[in-house]
Amino acid sequence: MSITHEDAEACTVRPDRTATSRSVLMCRPEHFTVVYRINPWMDPQLPTDTSRAVAQWEQLYRTYLDLGFDVQLIDPIEGLPDMVYAANGGFVIDNIAYGASFTFPERQSEGPAYMRWFADNGYEVAQPESVNEGEGDFLLVGDTILAGTGFRSASTSHTELARIYGRDVVSLTLVDPSFYHLDTALAVLDGTPGQEHISYLPSAFDDASLALLRERYPDAIIVNDDDAAVLGLNSFSDGYNVVIASRAADYDRQLREHGYNPIGVDLSELLLGGGGVKCCTLELRR
Ligand code: ARG
Repeated sequence: MSITHEDAEACTVRPDRTATSRSVLMCRPEHFTVVYRINPWMDPQLPTDTSRAVAQWEQLYRTYLDLGFDVQLIDPIEGLPDMVYAANGGFVIDNIAYGASFTFPERQSEGPAYMRWFADNGYEVAQPESVNEGEGDFLLVGDTILAGTGFRSASTSHTELARIYGRDVVSLTLVDPSFYHLDTALAVLDGTPGQEHISYLPSAFDDASLALLRERYPDAIIVNDDDAAVLGLNSFSDGYNVVIASRAADYDRQLREHGYNPIGVDLSELLLGGGGVKCCTLELRR
């Protein structure tokens, strides 16, 4: 008798995953459109449909509410079409919001708008001294902050993070312009200290960063190019439920194999701006 691949898979013990309710900040894409190009996904020649973007975004919003998340909203501002990508609005741990300072002039007014929201909602605001695009480039895994650089956030912002939060910061260099923010190339699936688990796209990192990732996270999920090409990695996990791009089929399969519950959402309209699930989501940690 032979043991098939399926049998072997059925025998593997799936790790227990635990959902922890999240608090997140989002921004309804009422003014979403693509009128400038600051990443390879954006093409101002292609038409965008704002009401479709809103409808798709609403699906993500409702998914989070159904998962029991606390979802806070910041008012969208006319003339700031990328404000929907709330992840870039700052980075929040221990009730301290490190403000964003955007790379491109087109988005620079978003920084103060988000900082005002943080201050109005009881967060201590740390004014940024370096160019940085918030949780787009900074991800908390256990007690470590993984910090991206190469396209947007300056490496000096990593030093600021270490000083502000008193945590270890691991700098990772991104090399593929299509994956210009860390959260387009790497996702935190379980950030619980002691059971850290991530997924990532190896080709998005330089050799030194890749060696670091391999050493720190030997059991990481490696996402394929097709799934990365629909910004599949740009996903948000509560430790068990992982909200992903509905088109990321193999990532979906891998997540199930690892004991997660992937939930697909179609944000194809927002993909025209170069963002997906995670970009629309900023985690608030009191
Ligand atoms: N158009 C936006 C930009 O290029 C997209 C931001 C996506 N956000 C993210 N967290 N990856 O800045």
